[in-house]
Amino acid sequence: MITVIALPLLWICVIAHAQETTCSADDETCSDIGVGASTAKRKIPTGFLNLSPYRADIHYDDGWFGQYVATMETNGETVHLDTFFGDRFFVTRHGVREGLVDPATDEQYFFTVDPSLEQNDGENNGVQFVLPSHAAPSKTKCKDRYPVCAKEAKRGECTANPGWMIVNCCESCELKEGFGHLLDSKVRCTRERLNATIPAWKEGSLDDLFTKWASDNQYVPYHPRVISSPGKILGAEHDGPWIMVFDSFLDDDEINALLKGASFGAGFQRSTDQGSVISGSGEKEKVISTHRTSSNAWCRQECEELEGVKRVSSRIEKFTGIPQNNYESFQILKYQVGEYYKSHHDSSSNKDNSVSGHRILTFFLYLNDVLEGGHTHFTRLDISVKPKKGRALVWPSVLNEDPSTPDLRMYHEARPVTKGIKFAANHWIHQYDSKNENLWGCSGSFA
Ligand SMILES: *[C@@H]1O[C@H](CO)[C@@H](O)[C@H](O)[C@H]1NC(C)=O
Repeated sequence: MITVIALPLLWICVIAHAQETTCSADDETCSDIGVGASTAKRKIPTGFLNLSPYRADIHYDDGWFGQYVATMETNGETVHLDTFFGDRFFVTRHGVREGLVDPATDEQYFFTVDPSLEQNDGENNGVQFVLPSHAAPSKTKCKDRYPVCAKEAKRGECTANPGWMIVNCCESCELKEGFGHLLDSKVRCTRERLNATIPAWKEGSLDDLFTKWASDNQYVPYHPRVISSPGKILGAEHDGPWIMVFDSFLDDDEINALLKGASFGAGFQRSTDQGSVISGSGEKEKVISTHRTSSNAWCRQECEELEGVKRVSSRIEKFTGIPQNNYESFQILKYQVGEYYKSHHDSSSNKDNSVSGHRILTFFLYLNDVLEGGHTHFTRLDISVKPKKGRALVWPSVLNEDPSTPDLRMYHEARPVTKGIKFAANHWIHQYDSKNENLWGCSGSFA
């Protein structure tokens, strides 16, 4: 879909805080990190050296699924962290949660910062851990990556959250639900299995929809305007593919709900791209985007429950007649001065064999007035749309005659903001159901 270049993540010094917990005797998944010995509170410099051929991520073992702290390159440089005695760390292949193991024992590497490992030779004070040269992903494909897996499977997570669990807790999900064979994404991720067989659009649906928006009186209160249409029909400014705006699509409550929802969960993060698939389970590496400098937040869970957010999604469903199961969660975007998103297509530029198929339609919502810049510019059509609070900009990414073929005229960019700040949100609408695709871990994202 998009070519990406992985940038080395620079981590200089990360302090992993020991968490004070007390564990009940029968809880094998709980660890007494930082409790007990008086040395537990002492800060200790710790070096991690990677001799394996794999770029590796270090995670602080919180007794749960761990917390990412740093990435180890394979160039012989030591990653320095300030840790506390009693802290435990584990390593995974970079960008995914696939553990690196000792091939002799098939055991994942865990490093515990223990006082007996401390060196005081003047130069290398502290504790030094080495990931040996033979460390590698396990040959056992169906494996638990975390001690907590058994407990999570027991409380029903393999069915509640199957994609993530099958990939991360395969062994436990096989025992509990017989899901082991589903680790293979070719088995788990088919349209038939995921009930994603009914396309939203057939030939002609696209023209019908935009024609209705541009001509039916029921849409007048939303202030529709045709920017571009085939044959320049219905008052368009340009002859070309359909592009429309609704100038009064959102009210202030809805805008405030989307902005508030952006701070839930992980909040705004520097935008990333999906890298290539690195394992049979279908996991893809997440890489910091180089052609996109914005930040984005995903509106999920509590954000999706907000009244104002629900209203917007329902309105889009009513406008399009396409069920919300075909939408990706709202992506909320923030562009500060100088930030941009270079020319790109919202779908892939060839046939799309993913479960949810092409992104057929984009609903792009401007959440504020930008002082200067931040236009959406269709680079191949030379059409620019100015951000305006409450405005929806809508365009298709596929052809009217054949919705399984991308429309290569729809490349667009977010021009840099030159004054002020830009907030926006978008729903990407797919040709097929994408809810099941996400639930079953078939979109490459296991966040
Ligand atoms: C697909 O639909 C069938 C019938 O409604 C249902 O039993 C099955 O659980 C669905 N599959 C998924 C993955 O949701």
